[in-house]
Amino acid sequence: MGELIAILSGKGGTGKTSICAGVATALAQLGEDVLCIDCDIGLRNLDISLGMADSGALSFREVYEGGYDLSQAAVHPEYPKLRFLTAPMNCAPEEIDREAFAQLLRQARSQFSYIFLDAPAGVDTGFRICASFADRVILVTGSDPASIRDASRTGELLELMGKESVRLVVNRINPKMFETLDITVDDIMDRAGLPLLGIVPEDANVVLAATFRKSLLGCTKKGAAAACRRIAKRIQGLPIPVSIK
Ligand SMILES: Nc1ncnc2c1ncn2[C@@H]1O[C@H](COP(=O)(O)OP(=O)(O)O)[C@@H](O)[C@H]1O
Ligand SMILES: [Mg+2]
Repeated sequence: MGELIAILSGKGGTGKTSICAGVATALAQLGEDVLCIDCDIGLRNLDISLGMADSGALSFREVYEGGYDLSQAAVHPEYPKLRFLTAPMNCAPEEIDREAFAQLLRQARSQFSYIFLDAPAGVDTGFRICASFADRVILVTGSDPASIRDASRTGELLELMGKESVRLVVNRINPKMFETLDITVDDIMDRAGLPLLGIVPEDANVVLAATFRKSLLGCTKKGAAAACRRIAKRIQGLPIPVSIK
């Protein structure tokens, strides 16, 4: 049975889509069957971060409405184990047929090892749909105090929803700044009140890869790409330590 992972944050622009694409690609490189679903209806852009902007991908709505089969989900041009369903156009999150979507996810669980839901910003309907189906939540936050506090509040909200497996990814960190301020991984966990799944550095390659419509891991093995690979291995259950350096 595959595992359903929702990539969430309260704040927008924390790097959900970039982390979702990086970690999903890493898992596919590691030999896992992975399905990414863009749930950011209206502002969808996971196709770009995956390097699949030209894939003409089916939307999850086209599949759950029955016109297409899950086996027709777009296949990544470099990583055949990575598949993708985009978000439907011209559709409010409230219009999503939850029962039909749930049925699609049940089917996906039987065909893939990992299914990623890339959520929209905010804590409204799209957030709730993604959280409600998730076996595990990755909360993506920036490293500044306001972002960590925001993540902590979002974590509380997820706790109220009964979500137990919630882990934090701190994105866009500047290791030198952490060294100067003498901040440790434990400090971040204490502030957020959540366990850490990983730390991703600020890395110009994230923007460059998206600009050239390539996947981050197809462009580089260092920096944010290496961090995504470590997160992927932790998701697989490997004991890879989290360190800021
Ligand atoms: N680690 C990183 N280093 C540099 N830029 C990043 C990093 N993560 C995300 N970005 C950039 O930040 C912006 C927002 O990222 P995105 O993944 O779209 O966030 P979200 O999905 O949370 O809105 C994008 O321009 C992206 O390229
Ligand atoms: Mg996004």
